[in-house]
Amino acid sequence: MLLLFLLSASLGLTSVTAADEGCIPRNSASFGFRLVVNVTDPSKDLSPSINGLFLHLAHIGPAQNRAYAAATPGPIFYQNGTSNTPSLTNLLTDGGSPPFPEGMSYQQEQTDANGAGIYVNAGSGAQATKLTRLSAPYSYLTILAEVTGSAFIGCTATIPYYGNSTYFPVINWVMTTRNATGTHLVIPEGCVPINLVPQCAALEALPPDARSSHEFAQEVRCYDNVGGIDWSRYQY
Ligand SMILES: *[C@@H]1O[C@H](CO)[C@@H](O)[C@H](O)[C@H]1NC(C)=O
Ligand SMILES: *[C@@H]1O[C@H](CO)[C@@H](O)[C@H](O)[C@H]1NC(C)=O
Ligand SMILES: *[C@@H]1O[C@H](CO)[C@@H](O)[C@H](O)[C@H]1NC(C)=O
Ligand SMILES: *[C@@H]1O[C@H](CO)[C@@H](O)[C@H](O)[C@H]1NC(C)=O
Repeated sequence: MLLLFLLSASLGLTSVTAADEGCIPRNSASFGFRLVVNVTDPSKDLSPSINGLFLHLAHIGPAQNRAYAAATPGPIFYQNGTSNTPSLTNLLTDGGSPPFPEGMSYQQEQTDANGAGIYVNAGSGAQATKLTRLSAPYSYLTILAEVTGSAFIGCTATIPYYGNSTYFPVINWVMTTRNATGTHLVIPEGCVPINLVPQCAALEALPPDARSSHEFAQEVRCYDNVGGIDWSRYQY
């Protein structure tokens, strides 16, 4: 660090970490992608950190899965929809053999103060689940983006199927507001606000007997290596 400082001072550079204002992280396009957790308020990160982990699925029943954060690469999703019915767009992955569609949805749990749990179950999942528009500086997942003030969060919680003493960094979704300063989202205690950022992955062709279809999979904006992005260089 000191060496770097001396070096840049001697070269007369003003700053070696200047933000590329007005720039956006370099992105690619793909039909398939994995979702990577980006902690947007590092002061509230869970312990251990969930930043850079993948959205992963814990099996909780036949074709039913609870979303949580894990280090191993998660399932490959695709955004399913048409450009003239954007509000119907949903997020799918292929489960089983032969493959059938499983969709992302959110379910409010009666006893859960931490918003709605994210699930990926057989079927179409929730409508209006899609990545941000091209006009937004970054690509990340939203649900009901027209509803202002909602966020994905990571929370340490049990998943009933695995008993009540095993804790997971589960992924939830909450309706929220910004605090009085306007800078930070108000989220449940013990949870951290996150964005789910798409990392490009190949969407493999389906076998002939598949019950899934990639006919309406949309080409999306994604990043080759989300963990390698230095967000401090991009300011919005
Ligand atoms: C990722 O998180 C950092 C803060 O840790 C933030 O500056 C950046 O805007 C976030 N990017 C996205 C796409 O959420
Ligand atoms: C995928 O999108 C198309 C077009 O909107 C729709 O007809 C189809 O039902 C969707 N598939 C699933 C599994 O939701
Ligand atoms: C949690 O598990 C323990 C041990 O299996 C059991 O005694 C207890 O009743 C459980 N609590 C709840 C709320 O299910
Ligand atoms: C909003 O949240 C930030 C970060 O926790 C905090 O520094 C700030 O004081 C909060 N503002 C208010 C009015 O509570």
